[in-house]
Amino acid sequence: MKVLLLGSGGREHALAWKIAQSAKVEKLFIAPGNAGTQNVGENVDIKADDFEALKNFVVENGVDMVIVGPEDPLVKGVYDDFKNDERTKNVPVIGPSKSGAVLEGSKDFAKQFMKRHNIPTAKYETFDGTTVEEGLKFLETLKAPYVLKADGLCAGKGVLILPTLEEAKKEFKEMLGGMFGNASARVVIEEFLSGIECSVFALTDGKNYKILPEAKDYKRIGEHDTGLNTGGMGSVSPVPFATKEWMQKVEDRIIRPTVEGLAKENIEYKGFIFFGLINVEGEPMVIEYNCRMGDPETETVMLRLKSDIVDLFEGVAEGNLDKRDIELDERAAVCVMLVSGGYPQTYAKGYEITGLDKVEDSVVFHAGTKMQNGKVVTNGGRVIAVSSYGKDKSEALQNSFTQAQKIEFTDKYFRRDIGQDL
Ligand code: AMP
Ligand code: GLY
Repeated sequence: MKVLLLGSGGREHALAWKIAQSAKVEKLFIAPGNAGTQNVGENVDIKADDFEALKNFVVENGVDMVIVGPEDPLVKGVYDDFKNDERTKNVPVIGPSKSGAVLEGSKDFAKQFMKRHNIPTAKYETFDGTTVEEGLKFLETLKAPYVLKADGLCAGKGVLILPTLEEAKKEFKEMLGGMFGNASARVVIEEFLSGIECSVFALTDGKNYKILPEAKDYKRIGEHDTGLNTGGMGSVSPVPFATKEWMQKVEDRIIRPTVEGLAKENIEYKGFIFFGLINVEGEPMVIEYNCRMGDPETETVMLRLKSDIVDLFEGVAEGNLDKRDIELDERAAVCVMLVSGGYPQTYAKGYEITGLDKVEDSVVFHAGTKMQNGKVVTNGGRVIAVSSYGKDKSEALQNSFTQAQKIEFTDKYFRRDIGQDL
């Protein structure tokens, strides 16, 4: 069959790598893709949110299935757009409907949903420009540090954690005053939870679900979790504290109630659910939902998934995911992200990347790269993800580290401690 994958980051290269291994796939297109995805499929120069152009491409090229990588097209309703068009209504889109993507698109909706379905999460209240005073009073009832979240999508920047009540009050007023534009017209204030985070992923057909390997990502730029937040500097899977017993709690208290809750509320959801969890004294609680896979978690999760992912996608499309098998690789996987010097603040682009052909035994996923005059050059903050297997996470890290040193570009930076704190 012919498959079209939307997106252009490391997550999409990892998905494309896995999709291309399926015996069911005769042709894989990636729109728009990057310099790495063209090695496993054919890049198509269409933006992931240009729905008209995507539909035309699907019709003209006889595409049988569309897989959505990033949240943006999902929140904008790509699922519904394909479904409501006579020409594409029978082409399965793997990803939730617009109403399902609201789990990520609105923090307030996600919190209300969890409350309705008794899913463990931090205590919270939501405020807007008409309830500023109430919000300030609510802050006084909480203990430091204070967690403020813009309701809408802010490219990962909409959460502030403030050490003092004074700062929290000030930032709260600024958020409602338009700090993140319309996205912070409503602000969720919630109780701070202390623990280690873990990303858990499920694929659902709306009724059945399969749980994928869990992973932990490393958000800070500096080793030992210091410095500014980034899109993610690496990931590890499995996560040692996610034992069988812990994962059973996650399934019973979080995954199943979420899938059942979506079905009860008639929210169409056929795709990935990302549960951003925190382990609070052994009890899993939900920090956030995302309506897609994580990046850079996908760059380790795909290494640990042995099953044919396209077979699972067919199960999603046909509503018989319960009839499909999911088989995992027992080895550990670690992904180390090579980033541009200066990231996550200002950095230069367009540096030539060399040594990619010298990498052995690791899988190289491109994140921010492009082809320029026949050369692969840097084209973003996060540039290349080097993912490796190992008998344990230390060996996997060592393998990624060894291979990462062979890849060269000006001002390359990466963390050498991914997975070692667990
Ligand atoms: P979110 O976008 O909701 O995932 O928030 C971004 C990050 O802020 C999370 O990955 C956590 O590290 C942190 N965070 C969010 N909510 C809380 C909370 N209630 N308690 C502690 N940390 C939080
Ligand atoms: N790695 C976290 C995310 O993809 O949102």
